[in-house]
Amino acid sequence: MSSTYTASITAPVNIATLKYWGKRDTSLNLPTNSSISVTLDQADLKTTTSAMASADFTKDRLWLNGEEDLQLSQSKRLTQVLSSLKEKRRLKEAKDESLEKISSWFVHIVSVNNFPTAAGLASSAAGFAALVVCIAKLFELDDDMTELSKIARQGSGSACRSLFGGFVAWEMGSLADGSDSKAVEVCPLNHWPEMKACVLVACADKKDVSSTSGMQLTVKTSDLFQKRIDEVVPERFEQMKKSIHDKNFALFAELTMKDSNSFHATCLDSYPPIFYMNDTSKKIVKLVHLINAFYNETVVAYTFDAGPNAVLYYLEQNELKLMSFIYAMFKDLNGWETKYSTEELNKFISNYDSLKLQELNLDMEIVKGCTRVILTRVGPGPLTIKESLINEQGFPKN
Ligand code: DP6
Repeated sequence: MSSTYTASITAPVNIATLKYWGKRDTSLNLPTNSSISVTLDQADLKTTTSAMASADFTKDRLWLNGEEDLQLSQSKRLTQVLSSLKEKRRLKEAKDESLEKISSWFVHIVSVNNFPTAAGLASSAAGFAALVVCIAKLFELDDDMTELSKIARQGSGSACRSLFGGFVAWEMGSLADGSDSKAVEVCPLNHWPEMKACVLVACADKKDVSSTSGMQLTVKTSDLFQKRIDEVVPERFEQMKKSIHDKNFALFAELTMKDSNSFHATCLDSYPPIFYMNDTSKKIVKLVHLINAFYNETVVAYTFDAGPNAVLYYLEQNELKLMSFIYAMFKDLNGWETKYSTEELNKFISNYDSLKLQELNLDMEIVKGCTRVILTRVGPGPLTIKESLINEQGFPKN
């Protein structure tokens, strides 16, 4: 085999606290509103991607979780992302004669998630972010993350926010060519490292409507939507950035919950209506409000994407308060033992007893609508790794 180039990286999942919902340009993936998200820790949720370029390869190929994904390899999104990256490399080669002309070669890409795709978590965000950063590294591009986020955005809108760790904004921009629609860091991970997340994975029937087509239906048919993008989100965008800068959890939580509700309201207001939250999701919403009312303090916020899973944001210092409820109610799910010692788990139970939470008649059946719990926290952006998922011939290892 002639000479090859390889690169490997990992990229995180992000969960929006101010939702992206609606495109003003479907081919460039330009949104109708700006959005904000928290990047989650890759120890719990990540995509690992390796890429190899070789003059011997005969086409661009992609393997996802062990299987070649022909549909994705041939999709417009992937083709567009790869050609943008190849174009950047071509410009670099044109400026520097000494560089090998790998922009004309094909690439093999191998990608693996460390979480079950069946969990219904936004894997496309981590996936496209990983792919873009990995190929940028393979091509030794000099672009910064904001510049690369414009390419990741074309793969999947939410992917542009996974290029940064911590707290991230996707600024919608206004130019027709999308050159100002990009992700920027609001605050780094170490600004508010106490931010934790508890994902309650709900039993889902097959995903109702994909986010791509769901948001188009909302843009076309919902009357509420116009008010959301004209007034509600622009104001909330500024307030939420400030709440993060100020580490004002009560405000951050209120805005997060209201924005999740607003987004799901525009889904219900679409025609025909789209339902992403199910009965379990709604019970979790009520539970969160009950917990905050019980303590007379905002200790937790919920948010739901295009599916029934609940993502709960809370601060580390309120863990005992929150988990006295959540562990007692969801202890039968997998995911607790790897994060807490038996002693810590017992402390949650004894606090449940001493606060006399049994007297609240909590609905202990909610757990039946969930399959697992993922306990995680705010985390860093994409990371370079040494080990590769690709063997010397350019195929997935093992
Ligand atoms: C509800 O980024 O998956 O999670 O751009 O069509 O790929 P495409 O959509 P996608 O939509 C995410 C929608 C959301 C909200 C969010 O992450 O901001």
